[in-house]
Amino acid sequence: MMKSIVLHPIVRVVVLLLIVATPKPAFSTTSAGDAVSGAQKAITCAACHGEAGVSSNDLWPNLAGQKPGYLIKAITEYKDGTRKDPLMGTIAKTLSAEDIKDLAAHFAGLAPKK
Ligand code: HEC
Repeated sequence: MMKSIVLHPIVRVVVLLLIVATPKPAFSTTSAGDAVSGAQKAITCAACHGEAGVSSNDLWPNLAGQKPGYLIKAITEYKDGTRKDPLMGTIAKTLSAEDIKDLAAHFAGLAPKK
């Protein structure tokens, strides 16, 4: 008997967290975020915020076209616990300051939902 295996959404998030938590070489010396690098790091975020930064769930915010400074502030506040959300808090703690800047540059550069 063949039985299809459907991954529970939480399992998928955990797998994605493992991917994002994998150490990568730090080669960027710029202070502004790198949107190309951010696009790779954003694979983790797509599960909830959508591949184009537009979410499919009414309770998950769109990120496409958001101001980069606001994105950095929001993610940093989840990381340090100033802003509390069980999902984002867990994710933000895996991100470095450079990851956050790169992700902000990536999402800020996407076209907002019309
Ligand atoms: C498991 C689902 C999930 C994943 C994966 C996820 N997020 Fe979120 N994100 C949320 C939810 C839910 C909120 C709203 C939380 C709240 O009410 O504060 C949120 C909020 C945010 C906000 C604040 C938006 C605003 O308008 O204030 C930012 C920025 C953000 N996420 C960035 C990211 C980034 C970057 C990633 C990938 C590294 C990511 N998220 C991955 C679920 C997720």
